Amino acid sequence: MIKEKILNLKKRKNAIILAHYYTLPEVQDIADFVGDSLALSKQAAATDADIILFAGVHFMAETAKILSPQKKVLIPDMDAGCSLADSCPAEQLEVFLKDYPNHKVLSYINCSAKVKTLSDIIVTSGNALKIVNALPQDEKIVFTPDRNLGAYINKETGREMVLWNGACHVHDQLTADEVYRLKEKYPNAKVLAHPECKATVLALADFIGSTAAMLHFAKNNTPSAFIVATETGILYEMQKQNPDKQFYVVNNPETCACNDCEYMKLNTLEKIYSTLQSETPEVVLDEALIKKALAPIRKMLEH
Ligand code: 13P
Ligand code: SF4
Repeated sequence: MIKEKILNLKKRKNAIILAHYYTLPEVQDIADFVGDSLALSKQAAATDADIILFAGVHFMAETAKILSPQKKVLIPDMDAGCSLADSCPAEQLEVFLKDYPNHKVLSYINCSAKVKTLSDIIVTSGNALKIVNALPQDEKIVFTPDRNLGAYINKETGREMVLWNGACHVHDQLTADEVYRLKEKYPNAKVLAHPECKATVLALADFIGSTAAMLHFAKNNTPSAFIVATETGILYEMQKQNPDKQFYVVNNPETCACNDCEYMKLNTLEKIYSTLQSETPEVVLDEALIKKALAPIRKMLEH
């Protein structure tokens, strides 16, 4: 069976498999560690494995390489990109930033290594509010690349960060109408939402947080039903942790009626096996780029 073959190979090669909550259930099952972006970065920095196989998307594997440059970092499919990271090309950001001298550049971790080199501090959805709140109130800030997360932070902190106009195609398509429809159908359900969703969706949420924070909320709060506004992969762990609770995912019925991140779903067991076998595709980054991109990630991890 492919599962055993992966586990044996992994052991033989002293490899670790890190997986995001948005990957397929069978991938989460064979991973050594499943987490949100923040927890995965911490794991990548701390591991003593020789090989990190990253079942996630490209910017996550890149971040792992930046944090552990001496390790071999593998990604099962080089096409596992991220629409949010792609919405902020480094060359365009560089030009944009010329209009904002004396601003700190805060970037959501969903960005390329090159964008990280243009940033002062990296944040994730799990620590963005804490990091922004720790900055002096009069600090001028440019926030990239997610306009929805940026607008949410502005609202919560009373800041006026300048926002790059980027978004995630999975979260940005979810609508308040669909949340209303589900609320009518399940009036006792609490609404959980990822801050990559639009403000109109976030306005209806009982709880807003990263994937790990939403999981924590679902487990530790009494309602037995939840309306979930994020990528569908999270439901696997949610249901596993709460077998007696009901979860209803917010879809966009006008588009695909599903909110799978097609990039995350490129990580299949077959590809993981062949990647471990051949030790390709490997994420390779220039040493100077690693050094420059590491500084803002380190600042994040210090918080
Ligand atoms: P978190 O893992 O920080 O919740 O982010 C979700 C996401 O979209 C990852 O790409
Ligand atoms: Fe990127 Fe959105 Fe997929 Fe997350 S869900 S990896 S932000 S495209």
